[in-house]
Amino acid sequence: MTETHEEYDPRMLTLLQMIWGEGFLSPGGPQAVREIAGGIDLHGKRVLDVGCGLGGLDQVLLTLGAGHVTGIDVAPLIVEGAKERIRRSGLNNKIDIQLVAPGPLPFPDASFDIVFGKDAWLHIPDKAAHFAELFRVLKPGGRLAAGDWMKSPGPYSKDMDYFFEMEGLTYHLVTLAEYGRHIHEAGFVDVSLKDITDKYRRDAHEELARMQGELKGMMLAELGEAGNAHFIEDWRSLTVVLDKGELRPAQIWARKPAA
Ligand SMILES: C[S@@+](CC[C@H](N)C(=O)[O-])C[C@H]1O[C@@H](n2cnc3c(N)ncnc32)[C@H](O)[C@@H]1O
Repeated sequence: MTETHEEYDPRMLTLLQMIWGEGFLSPGGPQAVREIAGGIDLHGKRVLDVGCGLGGLDQVLLTLGAGHVTGIDVAPLIVEGAKERIRRSGLNNKIDIQLVAPGPLPFPDASFDIVFGKDAWLHIPDKAAHFAELFRVLKPGGRLAAGDWMKSPGPYSKDMDYFFEMEGLTYHLVTLAEYGRHIHEAGFVDVSLKDITDKYRRDAHEELARMQGELKGMMLAELGEAGNAHFIEDWRSLTVVLDKGELRPAQIWARKPAA
């Protein structure tokens, strides 16, 4: 049996899609995918999406020209949901969703033109091993494009610990500098990191206002009083660590040298 990692409960999946759109479990929905992948020629390319969630991003990657997308994730419930969504969309021949165990990737060397990830690698403790694996499965000249969450230097504050507790998820965050160093040390070149904390800080405040306004009825109906109150507090704690600049979302690009 595949060793898996199920942390996102159904309530969390419902809430995240209410905020970011059906099939999306991370900030920005389809627009964020277009921003991250926008500068890369996806035409006819084989893409690996590591931590694909419910697969909404993989559909966007296809609309941007990707030839084939392999989406992998470690959570059985999420993978089942993604497979079902992709089956319904009729894109089975273009998007392949697979449940994998955390750790080494089940693909031969040089299998993909592009590795993509969106706010998923924050759950991976061993960044060095992770980027070494991404480097290995990329073809020479292949590209890495991702969004991820990072942190300011120093130990987590009480606010950050409280945010993690409210999320009920395990995060392994490093600073932008450490993140960049891991990517370099894996062998990538042209490494570029863009800190988008200011943008997401503003967006998160808007998301909290939507949860207390236009989404309130839906949240109460889907999540009940207790669930509604929990997620409002979760989002409030998110805005605190963003306002402090302790949680630092970023976009990342890099290239594997050609041969
Ligand atoms: C915030 S969700 C983002 C999902 C998707 N990328 C999106 O933006 O909609 C994080 C995802 O990472 C997955 N994940 C956690 N640890 C992982 C690992 N070691 N390898 C691959 N995926 C992982 C979770 O199961 C979850 O689906």
